[in-house]
Amino acid sequence: MDQLSQLRRFGLFDAKVPRYTSYPPATRFSNDVTGDTYANWIRAIPQGRRVSVYIHVPFCRRLCWFCACRTQGMRTDKPVRAYLATLKQEIDSIARLLPPGVVVSRIHWGGGTPTLLGPDMMTDLARTLHSAFPVADDAEFSVEIDPNEIDAARMDALAAAGMNRASIGVQDFNPEIQQIIGRLQTYEVTRDAVEGLRARGITSLNADILFGLPKQSPARISDTVQMLLTLAPDRVALYGYAHVPWMAKRQAMIPTETLPKPEERLALFDTARRLFMWDGYADIGIDHFARPDDALARAQSTGHLRRNFQGYTDDSCDVLLGLGASSISRFPQGYAQNASGTADYQRAVRGGDLATGRGHVFKDQDRLRARMIEALMCDFRVDTAELLRDFTVTAATLDALYTQAVNAFPGMVRTDANGLEILPEGKPLTRMIARLFDAYDMHAAGHSSAI
Ligand SMILES: C[S@@+](CC[C@H](N)C(=O)[O-])C[C@H]1O[C@@H](n2cnc3c(N)ncnc32)[C@H](O)[C@@H]1O
Ligand code: SF4
Repeated sequence: MDQLSQLRRFGLFDAKVPRYTSYPPATRFSNDVTGDTYANWIRAIPQGRRVSVYIHVPFCRRLCWFCACRTQGMRTDKPVRAYLATLKQEIDSIARLLPPGVVVSRIHWGGGTPTLLGPDMMTDLARTLHSAFPVADDAEFSVEIDPNEIDAARMDALAAAGMNRASIGVQDFNPEIQQIIGRLQTYEVTRDAVEGLRARGITSLNADILFGLPKQSPARISDTVQMLLTLAPDRVALYGYAHVPWMAKRQAMIPTETLPKPEERLALFDTARRLFMWDGYADIGIDHFARPDDALARAQSTGHLRRNFQGYTDDSCDVLLGLGASSISRFPQGYAQNASGTADYQRAVRGGDLATGRGHVFKDQDRLRARMIEALMCDFRVDTAELLRDFTVTAATLDALYTQAVNAFPGMVRTDANGLEILPEGKPLTRMIARLFDAYDMHAAGHSSAI
């Protein structure tokens, strides 16, 4: 049987599964985690520990129809200034709870579109962070950049604030596709943003592109990849377009009949993947590519690749503090998510409370299963000796889990004395295989297609 028939037989083209940027996925979070839980987890961070900070800016000047991110449109700066004031208040509250000596080693601004902040607002936010938290001299500071929403003054402000990595939204260069997905962005605009950032010393650039977009064909995605390669990004995220109009209402603007079929999505991914590999990029996990000298590729080759809410990372911190509406914080004890709605978030913070809305407290086998799923998503294998060393679990329990995977996906995974491994032909099934180790019920409607 050819690989396509096998993948079809295993249900790849029909399944809806989580992307496993966390375990359990955020759709399983509950009201168990309150502001008090969150405060206690912050107070319990060991002195001297390095932590990461994520700041969410949930605004865009215009909303792209394809986008499933937590964001909202704005016409004037007024709501953004009000939000910034709230963020600064939240930063102060968190800083007061942090034990002495905790150092911030990573900062990421995401969205929405953090670059719609004016230069003065960017400087203000960065200064507030630096005065509230001790930030390491070698800290990594990355920002999601919309090339349509950046100019010299804002790039200067970000560079002066210490930004040393940038992530650029590209999606696809084809004008017809851009029209259908409601995001017009010329190659020249993208190139100018890349050149402007490099001229300001930003040495590490990531670009996001999508496969599975309406009217995308192998020839069109090849053109997009070739054009992107002329900009020589250090990393690329090649995400599958998630069409979930029941959750992201603006996607109703995209006619369903223009979307490629699941089999075609796989062909689009493979086409793009081959081009990146030919150009010397290393493939990272299920959907990223990196230059071999990039930190992400080094993390993968040394077994230090991790997966978090932003996708793949070499960030090894076990604490991530998520600030802003809908942001998720991660601790060794569990996850805490801020209220999703901007108004709810602002009301809580202005009232002097933490904005925690929900989350998850790790229990039973959660940490073990989280490690297994992360290992599969990062390394396509799980290591028995490591699990026996780090968790209270028996070899027999692990063997039973492995056998379940081998029985469900014969010929796609194999197990031996070292553990479980996904074979190269089984890699497109990785999220489905990971799902076997997920102990929680799942509502398929909350997730995107497996390919
Ligand atoms: C939160 S957006 C922020 C980027 C920035 N505002 C911009 O537009 O360039 C980050 C990335 O999420 C990805 N994304 C958004 N909606 C998506 C969807 N429906 N399916 C898959 N990826 C999506 C896009 O690749 C986008 O670049
Ligand atoms: S892709 Fe970026 S600019 Fe477009 S709506 Fe989403 S967050 Fe906003």
